[in-house]
Amino acid sequence: MPELALLDHDTVLAAVSPTGAIEATRDAFLRHHDGEWTMPSKVYVENYPAGDFRAMPALGGGYAMVKWITSFPGNPAKGLPTVSGVLVLSDAETGVPLAIIDARAVTALRTGAVAAVAADALAREDAATVGVIGCGLHGTWAARCMVAAGYGPGVCADPDPRAAAGLAEELGWDADADPSDCDVLCFVTPGHEIVLAAGQVRPGAHLNMLGADGPGKAEAEIDAVRACRLFCDEWAQASHGGELTGAVEAGVVTREDVTDLGAVLAGDATGRVDDDETTLFDSTGLAIQDLGVAIAAYEAVRDGRVPASTVTL
Ligand SMILES: NC(=O)c1ccc[n+]([C@@H]2O[C@H](COP(=O)([O-])OP(=O)(O)OC[C@H]3O[C@@H](n4cnc5c(N)ncnc54)[C@H](O)[C@@H]3O)[C@@H](O)[C@H]2O)c1
Repeated sequence: MPELALLDHDTVLAAVSPTGAIEATRDAFLRHHDGEWTMPSKVYVENYPAGDFRAMPALGGGYAMVKWITSFPGNPAKGLPTVSGVLVLSDAETGVPLAIIDARAVTALRTGAVAAVAADALAREDAATVGVIGCGLHGTWAARCMVAAGYGPGVCADPDPRAAAGLAEELGWDADADPSDCDVLCFVTPGHEIVLAAGQVRPGAHLNMLGADGPGKAEAEIDAVRACRLFCDEWAQASHGGELTGAVEAGVVTREDVTDLGAVLAGDATGRVDDDETTLFDSTGLAIQDLGVAIAAYEAVRDGRVPASTVTL
């Protein structure tokens, strides 16, 4: 019977630093771009109005995994997290399961990490300051990863003053200033209302749009999206359930207008063309990102760098 490592939330965070998550995420985009890592489409299992389940499989690096994760927006009122789930990592050669991993920690790390990977690839070379709009769980990890990548100081903006002040205090950032002048803006709100109007798009800025990761969500006006040079994590997801979806459905953005981040990282496509344009990266969240962080976490346990318990099936 296989013995599986059990990686809970704290074990994942002990095993993978923000810097480690950034490296794993960048590598995952490169491997996927060159065809070495593969990723069938995300499957949604809907149970509305309560919420939905998402099954996210990926294969690469000698491993296969599936992340089974939720979005239940009414859960906080019940004292439960909006997002929860598990990730199962298996040996790709034998199919034997190797680890059960807390999906929430992996998701937080890989979501924060992609903000830093995209900024490194697409922001102006002299970009430093960061505005985080939406300072909840994933906004916090985006900010932490931006710091790990050398960005800052920054501004934390959130209608919940405790969320903004808490993150600002942790990082030594500002919770009272206007974030719109920052070099990199990370939008990590629930995506139920527009927080970026077309008139607010500033030349030279880089925008990480992280909050709109499913159908019906948007953080920017369609004209704001259209005003930018556009990049996405994956076209299929971004055009159907991402920040780009509204502009695609309105017929003002097509596949030819949008470049994959992996192609830019690999040097196969152009990123930012000049210092005055605004770049926009649409993150919808990819299973290959989860795979990259899950491998890093599992190998830290396997190699004895971080302790974890086990379970025998
Ligand atoms: N792109 C990805 O890969 C990815 C991954 C995970 C989560 N997400 C998405 O990111 C979003 C945020 O998730 P979370 O888990 O951090 O949620 P959360 O509830 O922890 O945080 C959201 C924060 O946004 C704030 N907010 C709400 N309206 C705002 C506004 N108008 N301006 C500024 N801040 C506002 C809230 O007060 C809250 O602090 C969700 O839509 C989630 O689905 C995306």
